[in-house]
Amino acid sequence: MGGCCCAPPIRAGRQPTDRHAAVWQRRLETRLEAYSNDIADVLITEQQIRDKTAELAKQVGADYRERCPGDGRDSDLLLVGVLKGAVMFMTDLARALPLPVQLEFMAVSSYGSATSSSGVVRILKDLDRDIAGRHVLIVEDIIDSGLTLSWLLRNLQSRQPASLEVCALLRKPDAVKVDVPVRYVGFDIPNEFVVGYGLDYAERYRDLPYIGTLNPAVYV
Ligand code: IMP
Ligand code: MG
Repeated sequence: MGGCCCAPPIRAGRQPTDRHAAVWQRRLETRLEAYSNDIADVLITEQQIRDKTAELAKQVGADYRERCPGDGRDSDLLLVGVLKGAVMFMTDLARALPLPVQLEFMAVSSYGSATSSSGVVRILKDLDRDIAGRHVLIVEDIIDSGLTLSWLLRNLQSRQPASLEVCALLRKPDAVKVDVPVRYVGFDIPNEFVVGYGLDYAERYRDLPYIGTLNPAVYV
């Protein structure tokens, strides 16, 4: 018989019971109620996000299977999330991937609380470790002008990772015009300001389970 008698068996977590699911649902509804007057339209539903994340994870898993077999600390794929917008997507993506990954975060400022990109990028929080020789996948919530990402790519490339790619959940039309290499894209969306699933307006709405547009009254 293999394995140590003290080691707990590794298996997927228990499925939530009906009672748990009902409690979660009630909490979600109460939270959504607080935002109900602010959201104009749901652009991408929770289910669509879930399906797309699973699809992207399958693709990423297949692409990195050989390079990142998970046979040692330094061979794990390193996900670099851009705070705070990418947090929801990053954690869901990590849990959907068939490979062991490690998580790192960076915070950069390019927006403040306005709704258009300034083009000025400043590091608010840098990575906690060296990425030289590592396979790095930047995880982004949304690419709008592409300014933040092209700056980030240059910055991280100078640290000599073994490879550097980008996985973005959303991409707006302007980003398609800019020459930023984005290997994985979830959804191409219209040129509208969106919130939810990590994305904020003045720090609100990140906790929505879907992606939606705001009522114009919110901006005044
Ligand atoms: P970019 O430099 O114009 O590509 O802007 C990228 C960053 O701006 C994203 O990572 C977001 O944090 C923020 N951003 C861009 N568009 C939106 C939006 O529609 N809603 C919320 N944040 C956005
Ligand atoms: Mg972002």
